[in-house]
Amino acid sequence: MTTTLDISRVRELFDLRGSFLVQTGGGYSDDPYPAWHRLRAQAPVHAGTVHELTGVAEPLVFHGLPHPDRPHFSAFGYEVCSAAYRDPVTFASSPDAVGATGAIGTDSSMLVMGGARHRRYRGLVQPSFVPAKAQWWIRNWIEETVHALIDEIAGHGRAELNVDFCAAIPVLTITGSFGVPVAQALDIRAALRRPGAVVEILAPIVAARREQPADDLISVLVQAEYTDDDGVTHRLSDDEIYSFSVLLLTAGSGTTWKQMGITLTALLQRPEILRAVNEDRRLLRPAIEEALRWSPTDPMFSRFVTADTEFHGTPLPAGSVLHLCIGAANRDPDRWERPDEYDIARPPKPSLAFGSGPHTCLGMHVARAEMLTGIGALLDRLPNVRLDPDAEPPRLIGMYERGATAIPVRFD
Ligand code: HEM
Repeated sequence: MTTTLDISRVRELFDLRGSFLVQTGGGYSDDPYPAWHRLRAQAPVHAGTVHELTGVAEPLVFHGLPHPDRPHFSAFGYEVCSAAYRDPVTFASSPDAVGATGAIGTDSSMLVMGGARHRRYRGLVQPSFVPAKAQWWIRNWIEETVHALIDEIAGHGRAELNVDFCAAIPVLTITGSFGVPVAQALDIRAALRRPGAVVEILAPIVAARREQPADDLISVLVQAEYTDDDGVTHRLSDDEIYSFSVLLLTAGSGTTWKQMGITLTALLQRPEILRAVNEDRRLLRPAIEEALRWSPTDPMFSRFVTADTEFHGTPLPAGSVLHLCIGAANRDPDRWERPDEYDIARPPKPSLAFGSGPHTCLGMHVARAEMLTGIGALLDRLPNVRLDPDAEPPRLIGMYERGATAIPVRFD
């Protein structure tokens, strides 16, 4: 297999500082954690959005933002964020508590649904995302992609891993699982900015799988059946399949890219830890989990307050938005000693990098499989990989979507 991805197009589509991702705060290049420590120490809940409280004045867009007509509050501690995640009735994932706008896109997907409806929809795809299915993902899509990418860089002695490697793996994995050919993988990534355009690419695939299902995720959606409140059994409509697809393609291609880059940055900047992982591959799993805790790529998700409530001493009016700064929660000193330190020997303890409660990341085991397979193969095949001493070192940037600037390495 050749990946045949046009690297200059990958560079344009996967650029935190580019025109698209800049609206989520891609231009932010300070370290937000000192401000988040200060805010967490001051009070469990603050009035204002996370970016305003961190010192960013321009309006940003992300989950729960901008909604200028609503009061905004933000939480920074582990306990307070967990408590909100555990109470999805008071803290709903969309403004109308039930969710789904009807238009094709993530605003009509399970991400914003609540209660029984959310459980019904999530249940349709959950079986494809359980840990036991990790090998299905690795065998069908991840392994081949990872090795094809390493084949392409191996002879050059140097590479820029953030784009040449990290960005390509998740996009090819998730588009592969949708039956989208490699040649169209970037078209679909670009089309996610205009969900209508995704339909043009997916419609012939949906029609073909309705005719003859294959061993892929799109066939799971095409064949899925659910029983509604009246006991009537339905297949998903084409529009429902498209909204599902936009969510899975967006969540599946945008996050793991940045998290894999964060993990590689943490390791490459600490050669002694990298050497330990190289010598004992069992340490790769804790290295990935610690990077998720230390620097989760999406450090904030939001909830809509459904009823007037007193929350950790702060009155929150119905209709307000509560932003959960899981990045700050993951460095809460009440839960982790030396929280700013990237330490892969910590005793294992769940963090909030994949969220919590009913909307906990559906794709977390796929994301872990991509990072384990990708970084593992890189170290197996290019064991002396190191940061390029002549290039600008990687920095972690971004407000609501965090990742590395670039990861220039040598392995000659
Ligand atoms: C390291 C990579 C990833 C991170 C850090 C991440 C993080 C998250 C977080 C924090 C949430 C919860 C959002 C909330 O609280 O409202 C979430 C939800 C979700 N993620 Fe991920 N994610 C990753 C990779 C993936 C992948 C690879 C897929 C799919 C293949 C995926 C699919 C989803 C879906 C469908 C949801 C919504 C679940 C629901 O509403 O029930 N994610 N993710």
